[in-house]
Amino acid sequence: MAERTDGTRVAPLRRLWRYGAPYRRRTWWATTHSVLNKLFDLAPPLLIGLAVDVVANDGDATLDRIGFTTQRSQIVGIALLTFFVWAFESLFQYLHQVAWRNLAQDLQHDLRLDAYANVQSLEHAWFQERATGDLMAVLNDDVNQLERFLDIGANEIIQVLTTVLAVGAIFFWLDPSVAMLAIAPMPLILWGSFWFQRRLEPRYEAVRNQAGFLNGQLANNLLGISTVQSFTAEDREAARIAGESDRYRQANRSAITLSSAFTPLIRMAILIGFTGTMVWGGFEAIEDATGGSGSLTVGQYSVLLFLSQRLLWPLTRLGETFDQYQRAMASTNRILDVVDTQPTITSGTTRLTLEPGAGAVTFEHVTFAYEAGSRAAVDGVSLTLEAGRTTAVVGPTGSGKSTLMRLLLRFYDPDEGRVCIEGHDVRDLDLGDLRRLTGLVSQDVYLFHGTVRENIAYGRPEASLEDVVAAATVAEIHDFVQTLPQGYDTVVGERGQKLSGGQRQRLSIARAVLKDPVVLLLDEATSAVDNETEAAIQRSLERISAGRTTLVVAHRLSTVRNADVIHVLEAGRIVESGTHDELVSREGAYASLWAVQTGAAVRHEPRRRNESSVRRTPPS
Ligand SMILES: Nc1ncnc2c1ncn2[C@@H]1O[C@H](COP(=O)(O)OP(=O)(O)OP(=O)(O)O)[C@@H](O)[C@H]1O
Ligand SMILES: [Mg+2]
Repeated sequence: MAERTDGTRVAPLRRLWRYGAPYRRRTWWATTHSVLNKLFDLAPPLLIGLAVDVVANDGDATLDRIGFTTQRSQIVGIALLTFFVWAFESLFQYLHQVAWRNLAQDLQHDLRLDAYANVQSLEHAWFQERATGDLMAVLNDDVNQLERFLDIGANEIIQVLTTVLAVGAIFFWLDPSVAMLAIAPMPLILWGSFWFQRRLEPRYEAVRNQAGFLNGQLANNLLGISTVQSFTAEDREAARIAGESDRYRQANRSAITLSSAFTPLIRMAILIGFTGTMVWGGFEAIEDATGGSGSLTVGQYSVLLFLSQRLLWPLTRLGETFDQYQRAMASTNRILDVVDTQPTITSGTTRLTLEPGAGAVTFEHVTFAYEAGSRAAVDGVSLTLEAGRTTAVVGPTGSGKSTLMRLLLRFYDPDEGRVCIEGHDVRDLDLGDLRRLTGLVSQDVYLFHGTVRENIAYGRPEASLEDVVAAATVAEIHDFVQTLPQGYDTVVGERGQKLSGGQRQRLSIARAVLKDPVVLLLDEATSAVDNETEAAIQRSLERISAGRTTLVVAHRLSTVRNADVIHVLEAGRIVESGTHDELVSREGAYASLWAVQTGAAVRHEPRRRNESSVRRTPPS
């Protein structure tokens, strides 16, 4: 929630009001029409009272003065007036509905876009703490909740207020003593409403949060449906969803118990006001009619009765409206929390453009742990990617290879030391420039729902088909694409599901090649393709990386043999560096890895046989 520095929370309505500053004028415009609509809606009972008096008391003095001298003409005059009042009521109803609903649309649109844009600017660490489904709930459900409130609820609150004020004024004008009776329950109702509201607030917050958890679990399961099915975990997952759904139900139940009690209680309070008005006002009218000291005419008495209905009826709906309000405010908090989250990785100001061939990268005593206090994933690493050269990093799984790339791309910032491109600390660089300079073929390829062409051209949407084909050819995927029914216009499905792992990987290589980055980062870029294809891609990549600063991470050492320098990483530290031949002759960590992969070590470690047989025996 929005905590201030002094620890107090900013009320959601105030947050929304501040956020909606550009909409102030339109809010006032809509409010004015809501008020006018209500005022015209309250007028007919007054006219009815007038008509009753005209009939019962030989005409009305005021109407007489303005020219309606006969009883009949007065009735016709009142009817005419009623006609206009109704026409205006309808007109303002139309206007306020259009105003509020359009305001709701525009505000929800802005909120969704702002929240989404801010989410895009946030760092990886933030996403790790949040379930995707929960975020989707914020961007969709919560935004819609607010929209619903602005559509209907805001107008209702304003109209209830208008009713209370207008009817209260009329009551006092007609008969102060009866008015006192009618408004006697008001303080009770208001106090009761606030009491309920305060207690409902945390319950609706819990409901919204639980909706987020449920969504998170659902998204997780649907994305991992093949894992669920292959491990026959359907029952377990269904039970897990049932658990989350049940907690959502319970959270709602607790809110329902309270919010449903509201309306009956308010009704009881209202009843006191209404029956009081009926009895006391009735007595006054009888007194008046029998020539006593009563202060109410029959017409005025009927106005009082009609109006107290009008006054009290909407109050019974106050519960529902407050309910909607509370839900909307819980959602507002969740949305604005996302909108207000400040990224910790922010863009620097130094603009940098480099030509391919430049772009030396240095890691200087870089230490980084994903979580404070946990083991460093990268521990005091210093290494240089010479401009225009290929540098390789190898090492066991979990040794921090991908982390190095993430630090260079500023998905995370190092805890100690710095990463520089051409001597500029990456933290000083414009983030857009930094990421334009670098091209990453990541270990886990992500393709978007779209065509092959769109996916390859993702980093350069304006690229021509020839460029796309050229990049695909380098990545050895062009021939395959041609066998597809719609060629480059074939839709790859969500996450590229319709392609094989190796095809996805090659597509992502094509994507990086087309981007033509100054610094090329290949993280296990060919791990999912067969030997022949790998050899072919390897030859292409060597052409592409020639004269380009390139960082290659690979488990198959054959793919890094020709690198200008190879660093061996173990548990976040560099343990060896050198060329392939130097490292092999040093007989250290690299040499034994090499021995395993070339089959030389199979004799000594028979249990590794299976593992190494999956791996390719590299050409020596
Ligand atoms: N997002 C994360 N949060 C916490 N720890 C992480 C995160 N990502 C990686 N790690 C940890 O950091 C260490 C280094 O991870 P990294 O991905 O850099 O390994 P790697 O060398 O690329 O391994 P592989 O060869 O399996 O890809 C690992 O121990 C891993 O558990
Ligand atoms: Mg990795």
